Amino acid sequence: MERLIDSLGRTISYVRISVTDRCNFRCLYCMPEEGIPFIPHSEILSYEDTLFLCGVLQKMGIKKIRFTGGEPLVRRGFVDFLKIFREELPLMHVALTTNGSLLNPFIDKLSALGLNSLNISLDTVDPARFKEITRCGDLQLVQSGIINFSKSSPTPIKINSVLVRGFNDDEVFQLLEFARINHLLLRFIEFMPLDGGIWDKSCFISSDEILAKIQQHGNWEPEKKDHNMLDGPARYYINRDTGQRLGIIAAVSHHFCDSCNRLRITAIGQLRPCLFSDTMIDLKENIKHKNSNNLKEQIHYGIKIKPKCWKNLQNSERHMSQIGG
Ligand code: GTP
Ligand code: 5AD
Ligand code: SF4
Repeated sequence: MERLIDSLGRTISYVRISVTDRCNFRCLYCMPEEGIPFIPHSEILSYEDTLFLCGVLQKMGIKKIRFTGGEPLVRRGFVDFLKIFREELPLMHVALTTNGSLLNPFIDKLSALGLNSLNISLDTVDPARFKEITRCGDLQLVQSGIINFSKSSPTPIKINSVLVRGFNDDEVFQLLEFARINHLLLRFIEFMPLDGGIWDKSCFISSDEILAKIQQHGNWEPEKKDHNMLDGPARYYINRDTGQRLGIIAAVSHHFCDSCNRLRITAIGQLRPCLFSDTMIDLKENIKHKNSNNLKEQIHYGIKIKPKCWKNLQNSERHMSQIGG
């Protein structure tokens, strides 16, 4: 088995694949209200293409695939695809990031898959505010989906809450409580300036400030844990009194570029070596023609040009939903 190591010695073991740029929500920090021009269906990689790509990635040393969107569950046949994926690539660690709104209809099928990880976005536990942040979402549907899934599946669930000043920064305690009561792992995420949308300094909350906020609600200390090469960028804390765990993703203030282990592939088969860079390598032709050697060469090239750090890059012009988070 090959191992993928970039020019800075970072082992690349994790690929995030966006299966669609479409979403049934319009979260304030992710997409404009009117939506964005969606990619025509004909240009999206077929499931067969995605499976072929993942087979090549596995042979190259990739151990974990996280499927993202937009919202992956809005794509027709996605859960059936996951089943085939599991059968064809049983050794691959399979993870999913979702907004949770479509979990309920798929609970049985999804839990039968034995996913390795399910991450669900939830920025508020207030129904009116949820509607405001997602611009159309139904909180009850998302919360019941999370709870029903957690009861029927052993898959570890993480709740992602992007904290935005003036929107949900007064809800730290309520979110922590929702997670504690339902035995879920909550992660607070720094709001990243990804597109020209609503981001500005005044609504950004740093991880230091997040930490100060959570310290008002219990005695939290950093968790001592060996870094696993499949881990994402969160740092974890444990509440000494209740045993609750919590993660903080300091995507902006304490960038984790020197331990970055990942690549991204968009729904149309473009490889993005970095979330914040618009540099892309178009893999589509080689995927379509099942040309493994050329594909491997392109992926090696992507790893070669993976930037050292995004701080020196121009901000991406893309919306988060087009990249997959
Ligand atoms: P695990 O694999 O469970 O640790 O998840 P993850 O944190 O890698 O994935 P998830 O899709 O839940 O993303 C959580 C947050 O981390 C989102 O806001 C992502 O945009 C952000 N994120 C993921 N990867 C990167 C990265 O490479 N750089 C930065 N800056 N943010 C990232
Ligand atoms: N900053 C931080 N996180 C974001 N997400 C979407 N847009 C942003 C942003 N600008 C998160 C979503 C989801 C994950 C895939 O990315 O909340 O949990
Ligand atoms: Fe959809 Fe996720 Fe973007 Fe919200 S953050 S609009 S749920 S892709």
